[in-house]
Amino acid sequence: MIEDVRKYWNENLHDIAITSFLPGSAEFFKELGSYRYKKLNYLVDLLDFESYRGKYLLEIGCGVGIDLVRFARAGAKVVGVDISEKAIGLAQKYFSLENLQVDLHVMNGEALEFTNNTFDVVYVHGVLPYTTHPEKMISEVYRVLKPGGEAILMVYNKFSWLNLLTKLTNVPLEHVDAPVYRKYSTSEFKKLLKPFKQYQIIFERFPSKTQLHNNWKGKVYNDFFVRAFNFIPRVMIKPFGWHLVSFAVKEK
Ligand SMILES: C[S@@+](CC[C@H](N)C(=O)[O-])C[C@H]1O[C@@H](n2cnc3c(N)ncnc32)[C@H](O)[C@@H]1O
Repeated sequence: MIEDVRKYWNENLHDIAITSFLPGSAEFFKELGSYRYKKLNYLVDLLDFESYRGKYLLEIGCGVGIDLVRFARAGAKVVGVDISEKAIGLAQKYFSLENLQVDLHVMNGEALEFTNNTFDVVYVHGVLPYTTHPEKMISEVYRVLKPGGEAILMVYNKFSWLNLLTKLTNVPLEHVDAPVYRKYSTSEFKKLLKPFKQYQIIFERFPSKTQLHNNWKGKVYNDFFVRAFNFIPRVMIKPFGWHLVSFAVKEK
């Protein structure tokens, strides 16, 4: 099954459809980065890359390395793993272009080849929903974290505005065709976080303009839906964010 996951992500690199630049070129990474932080506009504030300066940080499912480069630029010592050879090959190119140090591996995040208590931070964004045994990945995250270390984990919210919208508009979500695709309620996410005694869960990712859908549905979404949605007071819509982001700490 994990081989199906690898095959899918080798053939369907995340966000690749938004760029026509040559994969591996400087323009390719630039466009993927600017698309990402426009779409996930909450991410830069929430992560505060600068605050990880000097930390030893592992990203599981790093893809082509868009966030990992930001952590490295900010002064973290970074390691990235992904099940997809293609993603790791491109991440390697990105770090070379940026002249940044990194340690990258094609590796299954459910069976990490690192010793216990190694990292200050483990970052796993949008990977648990696609892996065969998410509970194995979580126990690996816990194992390789140093006592007092921090895990940053993102999964998709089952009860989100985006679920409702895709049902109403009949526009499928990205990667629903992946061999594994899971969404979580808050209580299911809490169950997954079982090894951690201390964590918080933040609801994020509200509508922002899409570049992915250029048809009339995309235009209505961009011109009316996004604007109208952003008029609603955040406190009312908070529980319906598409991303459930947890900051969890391993006990000392
Ligand atoms: C939706 S992409 C997310 C990429 C990146 N983290 C991001 O936020 O843009 C999912 C990534 O998880 C990787 N992945 C899925 N299962 C994995 C596993 N068991 N071990 C390592 N990487 C995995 C895929 O290859 C893919 O690059």
